[in-house]
Amino acid sequence: MQLRTLIVAILAASATLAWSGEPIQPIAAVKVKNPAMVELGKKLYFDPRLSKSGFISCNSCHNLSMGGTDNLKTSIGDHWNQGPINAPTVLNSSMNLAQFWDGRAKDLKAQAGGPIANPGEMAFTHELAVSVLNSMPAYKAEFKKVFKKDTATIDMVTDAIAAFEETLVTPNSRFDKWLKGDKKALSKDEQAGYKLFKDSGCTACHYGPAVGGSSFQKMGLVAAYDTKNKAQGVAGLTGQDADRMKFKVPTLRNVEMTYPYFHDGEAATLEQAVDTMGRLQLGRTFSPEEVGKIVAFLKTLTGKQPDFKLPILPPSSNDTPQPKPFG
Ligand code: HEC
Ligand code: HEC
Repeated sequence: MQLRTLIVAILAASATLAWSGEPIQPIAAVKVKNPAMVELGKKLYFDPRLSKSGFISCNSCHNLSMGGTDNLKTSIGDHWNQGPINAPTVLNSSMNLAQFWDGRAKDLKAQAGGPIANPGEMAFTHELAVSVLNSMPAYKAEFKKVFKKDTATIDMVTDAIAAFEETLVTPNSRFDKWLKGDKKALSKDEQAGYKLFKDSGCTACHYGPAVGGSSFQKMGLVAAYDTKNKAQGVAGLTGQDADRMKFKVPTLRNVEMTYPYFHDGEAATLEQAVDTMGRLQLGRTFSPEEVGKIVAFLKTLTGKQPDFKLPILPPSSNDTPQPKPFG
């Protein structure tokens, strides 16, 4: 126990040292490099015709009205299939060191092709998805405008979706205002919660602008995590025993909106998640009052949500392949 406390303290100290000052930095507003590509990517993000059923879009599971997630323990996909793992938020996902709980996609572009062809999610093929898009003159024209090519390819689709996702950052949270010097932006309890968050070592893993997303860490560092979920984390990729239950540390930005928590979605409330983290990652049992303060701090991490006009999608043409919701 003493050694573990020491390790956590060293981790916390090194995370703090990496930046002069606070272990968490404000989120910078996004600079849009290619607005036309972002607009196209937004349409694709909302278009359910990239799924076999014609019913499931990226937004079905990463609902931008609900913090970029589905607020379900695990996601529902094609044929009402219950997925194996909780859907992480897409908000601020461009800041992740890699994508997915186990980091198996190196970036947003590499990630974006996955769900379209995943039988349990959108259940389509890349060829069919692209043929659906190429059957609509308005889409073809938009792809031509952005990519200077006559026909769309899956490579262009994933480029555009990734460009849109890069805009999904949430600056201007109350916590960021406080970091930037507005000392009235946080209440006394919220400030006390942040101090407790830092002093007890949460920032060893939850640091940087996204308050997470920067490393893979073992779930159940001090005491084992009890779950029926089969996910093994990074070990599922490497086969290494040392990587068992190692997951990408989730971002805590907008965490008030992204319930339920953990890769298995088993923590329904933030209080429960904070209590579990204290005991399992730090060997520390917080009093209900302490949990309340940390939760109060975590709620100040909710930033300005993406704010845009809902895209209107081009109508299908007579040549567009028919959706197969029951096929
Ligand atoms: C059926 C629900 C479902 C659909 C549809 C879906 N996703 Fe996901 N998404 C998930 C789940 C579940 C995960 C986590 C999977 C894992 O880590 O193994 C995930 C992970 C991600 C991640 C990684 C986030 C992180 O922090 O690691 C991104 C980014 C993402 N999805 C974007 C998309 C995009 C873009 C689309 C549309 C092309 C899409 N998703 C469609 C459920 C879905
Ligand atoms: C040793 C690294 C480590 C430390 C220390 C740590 N966490 Fe975590 N945290 C993680 C990992 C890994 C996960 C994902 C676990 C999972 O899903 O199974 C996580 C998940 C969470 C979640 C759920 C987020 C979500 O979207 O599912 C919250 C909330 C959280 N941590 C808060 C805290 C607090 C508060 C502290 C301090 C009391 C803390 N963490 C300390 C690594 C850490």
